[in-house]
Amino acid sequence: MKVVFYIFFFHTIIIFIKADNSQCECASPSPTSIITSGINSLPQCSTTSPLTPKLRQVFVDKHNGYRSTLANGKSQLPDGSFASPASNMYKLKYSCDLEKVAQEWADRCIWEHSPVDHRNGGENLYAIISGSEGKGQYFEQSIQDSNDAWWNELRQFGGITSTNVTLTMPAFNTGIGHWSQMAWATTQTVGCGFRECSRPDGTIMFFVVCNYRPSGNYLNQNIYQIGQPCSRNSSCTAVPNSSCEISTGLCYVN
Ligand SMILES: *[C@@H]1O[C@H](CO)[C@@H](O)[C@H](O)[C@H]1NC(C)=O
Ligand SMILES: *[C@@H]1O[C@H](CO)[C@@H](O)[C@H](O)[C@H]1NC(C)=O
Ligand SMILES: *[C@@H]1O[C@H](CO)[C@@H](O)[C@H](O)[C@H]1NC(C)=O
Repeated sequence: MKVVFYIFFFHTIIIFIKADNSQCECASPSPTSIITSGINSLPQCSTTSPLTPKLRQVFVDKHNGYRSTLANGKSQLPDGSFASPASNMYKLKYSCDLEKVAQEWADRCIWEHSPVDHRNGGENLYAIISGSEGKGQYFEQSIQDSNDAWWNELRQFGGITSTNVTLTMPAFNTGIGHWSQMAWATTQTVGCGFRECSRPDGTIMFFVVCNYRPSGNYLNQNIYQIGQPCSRNSSCTAVPNSSCEISTGLCYVN
């Protein structure tokens, strides 16, 4: 059966343009409930989201897998060279609070970003649009593909160089805005929502919303700190009481 579908990408508009950490903290409160993910503890959330624990784990694993690749200097730029390794890359945890926020927005079925005061954090959107015959078909695919499409912006567009990872406006405008939020080193939590939306023209939008805290994409700040990936707990200084997961080169909050 043939299904014609189109994939849309939507750029995160830069929300915070002040290089001011007090602004950042006030705009990005810590979630109150965080689910630590692990092999034996798939994230369980009591929200209205149709996401299953396994699909939540797909988001966490894909984000952290990519973040580890980057931290270890194995993420490619368009010219085939590699982005510099990262010394302060945090391992993301799944947040049910953020899932709730993301799901509320997904339920609106509007192909636009949520208001900043709704999400108090960063946001990436993704959608697969299909004809009505695609009903029920792209739930899991849209989740798998969203993560890959966002991350692949680095290989596609670059924006940064192998020695400079500042998110300037020109860098952002190359089209790396989803990647840079996914890669933002000091972001610590992600939570996502999904909705299959029937649209007035008869098409269906498989709508994926991910929210992030603390937010990334601060203009003229470094996406991450260049350096060897963490190898001991004392390398992880962005947040008090952090530890290093040596096998991935990612820092985590205890
Ligand atoms: C990276 O580029 C930005 C913007 O051009 C510049 O302000 C900054 O000094 C550069 N950083 C390094 C380490 O060269
Ligand atoms: C860090 O951990 C120590 C020992 O577990 C604890 O006493 C302290 O309050 C923690 N500090 C922060 C900022 O969480
Ligand atoms: C790093 O921190 C973790 C978690 O607190 C701890 O289990 C581990 O022993 C620490 N490693 C070192 C080398 O101190």
